[in-house]
Amino acid sequence: MSKRIDVNNLNVYYGSFLAVEDVSLAIEAKSVTAFIGPSGCGKSTFLRTLNRMHEVIPGARVEGEVLMDGVNLYGSDVDPVAVRRHVGMVFQRPNPFPTMSISENVLAGVQLNNKRISKSDAEDLVESSLRGANLWEEVKDRLDKPGSSLSGGQQQRLCIARAIAIKPDVLLMDEPCSALDPISTLAIEDLIQELKDQYTIVIVTHNMQQAARVSERTAFFNIAGTGKPGKLIEMDDTTTIFSAPSEKATEDYISGRFG
Ligand SMILES: Nc1ncnc2c1ncn2[C@@H]1O[C@H](COP(=O)(O)OP(=O)(O)OP(=O)(O)O)[C@@H](O)[C@H]1O
Ligand SMILES: [Mg+2]
Repeated sequence: MSKRIDVNNLNVYYGSFLAVEDVSLAIEAKSVTAFIGPSGCGKSTFLRTLNRMHEVIPGARVEGEVLMDGVNLYGSDVDPVAVRRHVGMVFQRPNPFPTMSISENVLAGVQLNNKRISKSDAEDLVESSLRGANLWEEVKDRLDKPGSSLSGGQQQRLCIARAIAIKPDVLLMDEPCSALDPISTLAIEDLIQELKDQYTIVIVTHNMQQAARVSERTAFFNIAGTGKPGKLIEMDDTTTIFSAPSEKATEDYISGRFG
């Protein structure tokens, strides 16, 4: 549980378009790393390379390596489905399966992964995952109701429960709070703080305060212009990035002078 990631010289392509160029960085285990940067700089694209979701898009590919505790996720003998079992993902818009109940939603990833589990183990897993996502108390009396009957903030926590039910080592979150109100956002941020004891967490966010509140390390990505590749400008302790960044582009971005 909770693995370290080292990315070495990663280039990320959509067909012939180089979307992200030559990224090397390290993501510590049991910590929260934030990715920030302007729209289109490749944050989501880069994030998806960390669990091999990028390559499901036709023509999409990478060069370079992504090591998880030293093992290259792009090694020729590595099964991408197994990678996604170790590296879970939560998306910008809560996306519970609408026709499934709350408990079926929690188990959806587990069943997709073809694990056969007994009814009582399944019930235990539903409870522990919902407790882990801080949602249990709110839904324990209506586990058979549709996932879509929950509020937006509850649905996002349901998606987090679904992601942690597969017991991943790493949890990737792409703007998980952008569709949420401030109260639900704080609930998710509290949850991220709790989850980092067990997981390596990477969060993409446009909210600087959020990056400052939840993360230990921050990576700033930028683009020189339309059609140009996104690049990692700098990565450092979050307090350093927000108080004394090394690069002027970072300073301009965090102080709102960008664009
Ligand atoms: N499926 C795709 N096919 C082709 N190009 C894509 C695809 N998805 C993204 N891109 C391009 O890759 C570049 C990076 O996009 P990406 O979505 O990773 O940026 P982002 O930093 O996440 O932006 P935002 O903050 O708006 O979410 C953009 O130029 C985008 O148009
Ligand atoms: Mg994005």
